[in-house]
Amino acid sequence: MYLRELSLINYRNYSKLELAFNSNLIIISGRNAQGKTNILESIFLSCTGRSHRTPRDRELILQGEKESMIRTMVEKREGPSLIEITLSLKENKKIHINGMAAQRIGELMGHINGVLFSPEDLKLVKGSPAERRRFMDMEISQIKPQYFYSLQQYNRILSHRNNLLKDINENISLRSTLPIWDEQIARVGTYIIMERLNFTDKIGKIARKIHKEISSSNEDLEVLYEPSIGFNSPHAEEIEENYLYILESSHDEDIKRGSTGKGCHRDDLAISIDNMDVRTFGSQGQQRTAVLSLKLSEIEMMFRETGEYPLLLLDDVLSELDKYRQEQLLTYFDKVQTFMTLTDYPDILGDIGSNQEIYEVSGGRVTKI
Ligand SMILES: Nc1ncnc2c1ncn2[C@@H]1O[C@H](COP(=O)(O)OP(=O)(O)OP(=O)(O)O)[C@@H](O)[C@H]1O
Ligand SMILES: [Mg+2]
Repeated sequence: MYLRELSLINYRNYSKLELAFNSNLIIISGRNAQGKTNILESIFLSCTGRSHRTPRDRELILQGEKESMIRTMVEKREGPSLIEITLSLKENKKIHINGMAAQRIGELMGHINGVLFSPEDLKLVKGSPAERRRFMDMEISQIKPQYFYSLQQYNRILSHRNNLLKDINENISLRSTLPIWDEQIARVGTYIIMERLNFTDKIGKIARKIHKEISSSNEDLEVLYEPSIGFNSPHAEEIEENYLYILESSHDEDIKRGSTGKGCHRDDLAISIDNMDVRTFGSQGQQRTAVLSLKLSEIEMMFRETGEYPLLLLDDVLSELDKYRQEQLLTYFDKVQTFMTLTDYPDILGDIGSNQEIYEVSGGRVTKI
């Protein structure tokens, strides 16, 4: 898919911005703090309904203003899609898809798909399990809106159960209502685990192949789902049974703690290179390459699942990679429309040819060069 138009009103440091794109490679250059990432962020927001930098919409609205508007037009195989998002200080965000008001954020998923890669993505390997769950959740949600709804549902049920656990500490008679929540958690949680297993299996295979190509010494990358609920075979019936059993047998512990100790909200991805856990033992370079492999796999995976390549959003990452990996990344521009922010213009881009547009950003103003 191709992003053809982007317009922003009162978004971050842009009071008004209107851009039209006609190339595969869009370079957004400028000094620090001028508004480069803000542009990528607005595109990512149009893909997923949320910023990759903050959960708080009010931070996205130009200071001193009450409302902000982000409008994107993408061209896909089946035709164009127009997405309009209105953020407001007072109300929840409003989304219009091809002129129709969306009832839920989830309806946005799949209209514009994007893979964002920024230096903070190193957290994907080095950070807490929550980072890796977010990676899976974002990706699967974009491919499968049903997953997004189930995730929202799971979080709702989980917070009900957690509140109940705290209340039981005050009022023991409430304990008899726990099984109702156990059953719901086990049911929705099992669906989430099944989808994540499926995702991990697919992306793991792609990532292994890509990693072999881009790592210097033919390394073997392995990605495995690491569940907190044990099971022998990945069948829904067995997982749900074990899930329920674990929830039931953790009642005392959970009540004491006031929260649910086990479940898909605690799960992780194990990432290893040549059988060594990269999360703890990988060198900087290995971690960076593993993240790059996973990000490139996201692109391939979206293509396989939806028949369409997503937008690739690269925030300041080119300078972080060595020349060989830069070249590997550049091979994607042929088939994937890429938006790339830079502070310094690297020599390697000179070779790409004419299918690119360069914009210079300064203090919330954008000039095409
Ligand atoms: N809600 C807002 N209202 C007004 N200005 C904002 C708002 N949010 C952020 N900014 C401004 O946006 C600028 C930062 O933009 P951005 O993060 O896109 O910079 P950048 O060009 O990517 O910089 P770097 O190269 O350091 O990553 C800062 O000057 C910041 O003050
Ligand atoms: Mg930036």
